Amino acid sequence: MKIVMAYHTQTGNTKKIAETMKDALEEEDVTISSISEVDPSSLKSYDLAFLGTGIYGGLPGKTLKKLLRDASEIPPKIVLFYTHATADPKIYKKFLKRIRKRINEAGSMILDEFECLGDDPRLTLDEKLERVKDLPPDKQKAAEEAVKNLIGHPNTEDLESARYFVKSIIKRIKTGKL
Ligand SMILES: Cc1cc2nc3c(=O)[nH]c(=O)nc-3n(C[C@H](O)[C@H](O)[C@H](O)COP(=O)(O)O)c2cc1C
Repeated sequence: MKIVMAYHTQTGNTKKIAETMKDALEEEDVTISSISEVDPSSLKSYDLAFLGTGIYGGLPGKTLKKLLRDASEIPPKIVLFYTHATADPKIYKKFLKRIRKRINEAGSMILDEFECLGDDPRLTLDEKLERVKDLPPDKQKAAEEAVKNLIGHPNTEDLESARYFVKSIIKRIKTGKL
């Protein structure tokens, strides 16, 4: 099985998840790359693609959208993964809506999805708290909690979940369950 692991990252979190996933698939034939370096016409040569992105302004990275637009054919099996800063699943599950639509329209199957929180490693806690300090008092406490909740993600537990997730995908494919 030929696998590509391609990611869009701005601050490194999604890359970290991608590298962890690749590491967990050491026995498989996996090519890992930033999406911007993936030739869209090469995508069809893979049996399975792991496509990952951070979320920016409620949307996936532009290179992911572009890759799916420019590729004439995409692998039959796709796994999506994303890192974001939103605690509410009702909200974060919508971030990849258009990506899922494009994959479905191309006739490929999304086998599963992985997501986890991702903090901005470029800012200190004080700088992050400073950004929410002018919110109305009723919103400020929740925003401060959200900032604190993000600290350190993706953390060791997230990376372990990512590792477990990919191993389980491959196992399910090999046993005919996917
Ligand atoms: C410019 C920018 C905009 C962001 N917008 C959102 C957003 O709308 N919703 C969200 O849940 N997270 C948002 N985030 C948080 C990122 O999705 C999160 O930190 C993610 O892990 C970044 O992935 P990366 O490190 O691979 O770039 C934003 C981060 C940045 C830097």
